[in-house]
Amino acid sequence: MNKKDWWKEAVVYQIYPKSFQDSNGDGIGDLRGIIQRLDYLKNLGINVIWLCPVYQSPMDDGGYDISDYYHVHSMFGTDEDMDELIRKADELGIKILMDLVVNHTSDEHKWFQEALKNPDSKYADYYIFRETEDGNPPNNWRSYFGGPAWTKVEGTNRFYLHEFSEKQPDLNWENRELREEIYQMVNYWLDKGLGGFRIDAICNIKKRLEFGTFQPDGEDGLRYIGDWVLNQPGIEVFLKELNERTFRLHNSMTVAEANVPEELLNQFIGEEGFFSMVFDFSYADIDVPDTGEWFRPRQFTISELRKNIFDSQKMVQEKGWGAVYLENHDQNRSVNKYLPEKEINYYSKTMLASLFLFLRGTPFIYQGQEIGMENIRMDTIEDYDDIATHGQYHRALKAGLSEKEAFDIVAKRSRDNSRTPMQWNLSKNAGFSNAEATWMKVNPNFTKINVTCQQKTDSVLRFYKKLIGLRQESKYSSVMVNGAFLPYEAEDEDASVIAYQRILEKERLLVIHNFQNCESMIKIPEGYKEKAIGNYDREYLGETCYCLKPYECMALYKSQ
Ligand code: NOJ
Repeated sequence: MNKKDWWKEAVVYQIYPKSFQDSNGDGIGDLRGIIQRLDYLKNLGINVIWLCPVYQSPMDDGGYDISDYYHVHSMFGTDEDMDELIRKADELGIKILMDLVVNHTSDEHKWFQEALKNPDSKYADYYIFRETEDGNPPNNWRSYFGGPAWTKVEGTNRFYLHEFSEKQPDLNWENRELREEIYQMVNYWLDKGLGGFRIDAICNIKKRLEFGTFQPDGEDGLRYIGDWVLNQPGIEVFLKELNERTFRLHNSMTVAEANVPEELLNQFIGEEGFFSMVFDFSYADIDVPDTGEWFRPRQFTISELRKNIFDSQKMVQEKGWGAVYLENHDQNRSVNKYLPEKEINYYSKTMLASLFLFLRGTPFIYQGQEIGMENIRMDTIEDYDDIATHGQYHRALKAGLSEKEAFDIVAKRSRDNSRTPMQWNLSKNAGFSNAEATWMKVNPNFTKINVTCQQKTDSVLRFYKKLIGLRQESKYSSVMVNGAFLPYEAEDEDASVIAYQRILEKERLLVIHNFQNCESMIKIPEGYKEKAIGNYDREYLGETCYCLKPYECMALYKSQ
């Protein structure tokens, strides 16, 4: 791509390959399945796909445990299939982003296997090993998935660090040779014509190693690891080098999974930043405490949600560019997170869509979000595949919750809520696969929520398509993409109305969302006459005092 900031105009669609489309009847989604569905995506109007990891992996953590960076997992297809996907997508004007997971590898990666076999090999320094005299772990850090962050190498007093599962040993970025291997691998993929990468856990690559026993912060006697491994001083040296040696050379789009404090944000996403954009966790994780322990859910109000969105928008626009998202493979379904169960319907779902797609930043739509897919409730804890879900469930039990209480939390917040197969149509397994059994249960609500039945009527899918179209190719495109963000807080405004403006020279959009199931009055400044989109079929006649219907949203436009 030639244009420097081409990714500002992108609308991204995230695919969880295991659950998108199965082409060979084994019950697991694959690359050829994605190729088959490219027309659907083109028609939806998106122009970038982010593909969750498809590399070789024992799949301990859904592929975020890579055992070979250069080859595709046979479950997803072949290396040639991947090349074909990149090529065919490109022909349709769609760029592919792969997931870049370089904070850790799988323990089955040959580097780690060598390091285990031979502590004197150069590969031992690719990871973080510590020997202790007493045979106890070097400290009591808790890994993100629960349990100690150090695992003992069998038959020794040698431990290795893993911030995530014990099958995901952390890489030692202090080692120059390792960094060179990483840059080589990144360039190998970029040379194939990839649009760029979504970069996993990148704020974790610099560690501040300290040993001993820290004050525990949980019933397990362990301590949250984040304070020692997130955004540590010196990380900027690695990130700068990574960018200069790889992404910058290819004008890549890069989106970092990184919760960056305000004072560092400019270095990350400013003009000469390390990345094109970063994800902001402040509203997607509004229901999760800072320590990531989602088994202790946080209650939140709509005012708080509005504040988080507004604060994030204002901060990011001061520093650079952002990525906006409602859902991803680590979240439950957004409609279940933000809406009361009884109020989940066409109006509330489309209101959420508008709230996010009009924000400043590149929008990321997660598979199924565009048809309003919802959480699933499994029958037993064994039905959940996700490693983090089991970790949180066990911690919940340890913290004294009953099995039923712990299960209820899992059902609401598990990452598997978003990992169920895509719901395409009314046929077997929702058209995802013709296998007898799919790797994960299909949500039984596919009979009501699926792509085919939403093609015809006024539907969530149609609304998404319209919104994407407005952003991509309409008279509103430039203000939707480039307009500044300005909160709109009318006098006496209802706390459940979220409204903001986008402003570009003389053009202005005012976007209003009634985040509740009852009517609400809002004052509208003079001059707005044109309604760009709304989820109720009503005209706007320039009223300065307007009565919004339950979960109504609308965008008004003026150009002077
Ligand atoms: C973030 C990824 O999105 C998540 O799925 C994964 O479990 C962790 N990083 C570890 O790689």
